[in-house]
Amino acid sequence: MPKSLRDLTGDLVGNRALVRVDYNVPISSGRVADTMRIDASLPTLQWLLDRGCRPVLLSHLGRPGGVPNPALSLKPVANALADKIGAEVRFVGTCDSPEAVSASREIQDGGILLLENTRFLPGEMNNDPTLAERLGMLGDFFVNDAFGTMHRAHASTAGVAQVLSPAVLGLLVERELKALRVLKDPPRPFVVAFGGAKISDKIDLLNALLSRADRILVGGAMANTFLRAQGYYMGGSLVEDDAVDLAADLLRQAGERIQLPMDVIVTSSIKDPIAMVREVAVDQIPEGFAAVDIGPVTRKRYQKDLKQCSSFFWNGPMGLFEDPRFTEGTFSLARTAAEITNCGALTVVGGGDSAAAVRLAGLAEGISHVSTGGGAALEYVSTGGLPGLTALSSYSA
Ligand code: 3PG
Repeated sequence: MPKSLRDLTGDLVGNRALVRVDYNVPISSGRVADTMRIDASLPTLQWLLDRGCRPVLLSHLGRPGGVPNPALSLKPVANALADKIGAEVRFVGTCDSPEAVSASREIQDGGILLLENTRFLPGEMNNDPTLAERLGMLGDFFVNDAFGTMHRAHASTAGVAQVLSPAVLGLLVERELKALRVLKDPPRPFVVAFGGAKISDKIDLLNALLSRADRILVGGAMANTFLRAQGYYMGGSLVEDDAVDLAADLLRQAGERIQLPMDVIVTSSIKDPIAMVREVAVDQIPEGFAAVDIGPVTRKRYQKDLKQCSSFFWNGPMGLFEDPRFTEGTFSLARTAAEITNCGALTVVGGGDSAAAVRLAGLAEGISHVSTGGGAALEYVSTGGLPGLTALSSYSA
């Protein structure tokens, strides 16, 4: 295992800690709209400040494709971070320049430096070794606390970890790995809920969990593809045509362990807020109607399965929860997850949309672990490794 921040002993006062964080956060009207990832980075930053270190923060925001884009500047994040941590956060609008290196040497006691979006640089996403060398000049040691980006081997995640030593895990990454590792050999019965749009995006995860899970509850548009594979007429529902054979294969392999909706909420138009909405059995979907959530009978059955489990992993919403008319499938699962957590079950939510749904339902505190990473959590649970981690393992004290 790579070493964590806690393994750094000795006097760190005055050292520049180059910290890769994941501040890929939603920005709306120049302000951070959701601070979850900023909040999650605070323990590491506070740990460093308490030991007299000078944090220099690197992050990406969005996918600007190697060119500067003012709409994806990290400047608004500096203000949000300053409010949260109660320290001075200086922002410098570059991260690969003599100005950035000088700024890293000018940090005052108790201050933090946040540099501009790493993905404004052409060498970031292809892990350019010369860029990694230059980023290495920004710190005296490296901390990777960007769990949400650990599945990317980029210059600011993997590359820099190989040029700056020591290179260690931050406290957030440590917490995430500890929670997700339990799923390798979870307490039984182990129930998994899958939702979201595409089976093909999650096939590795599905395959990895198929052999481990005692029950797999399927919802969201993904369920439509499974139902089509069983021969149901799906009306105007979103179905992944290319994955119907794959769904049939998965059903053959998993048999009764895969549970599909028995009823669904359908609408005559997803976009029209006053369109017709009905609850129907899956063999009664009217022509032109689209399934947008699991129905009440399915909700009850999924809740019953959940109440019998000792551990639960959830990835992907059960329906279009962003629309208040179609929240119930996802929210009822979130409520039951919180209930069973309260009774001692281990519950883990991994994946951007399901994590957002749990927060929207006001239930994040009631879940054992809500991951800050979507793709990273899925890759870690599927494969047991992450490129950002492998880069750090090269460090030995
Ligand atoms: C995320 O939001 O999932 C991470 O920040 C990674 O972003 P990416 O998918 O653009 O690499």
